[in-house]
Amino acid sequence: MSFKFTEENLKKIEAVREKYPTALAAVMPVIYIAQEQNGYLSNEAMEEIASVLGVDKVNVLSVVTFYTMYHTKPMGKYHVQVCTNVSCMLRGGYQIWDQVKGKLGLDHMQVSEDSKFSLEEVECMGACGYAPMLAVNEDYFENLTKEKVEEILDSLK
Ligand code: FES
Repeated sequence: MSFKFTEENLKKIEAVREKYPTALAAVMPVIYIAQEQNGYLSNEAMEEIASVLGVDKVNVLSVVTFYTMYHTKPMGKYHVQVCTNVSCMLRGGYQIWDQVKGKLGLDHMQVSEDSKFSLEEVECMGACGYAPMLAVNEDYFENLTKEKVEEILDSLK
């Protein structure tokens, strides 16, 4: 499926580009803009990013495949990320992970049949002081308890 940036996003890219000394340095925010527009990073989206920035597609692909915040397949409407790295693990991260897996009926990188949920086990998300934590799309939920997790997941419509 073809991909073209919207006019609005092309303006955003222009503004982003002005903040960075080289086109390569602007790759990450531009990838993020593409993901926001398309929901995930298709081959066509990565080609368009490379074309708009005037960089090689391999530069885009290497960044996309390195960072877990970028997705090369469609995720659910609610992308739930549970951290099980050291701080979260020590404060019950694996119990939270098991709870969420059970509640959603999903495992790592699976998407529900209705595309409402996707689940990902992640490494540190920079909220170690508030462990254990999970994120739903861009929102962080910290100092989790089993009850809080239940409430958060039940609130997702
Ligand atoms: S270890 Fe979980 S946020 Fe850092």
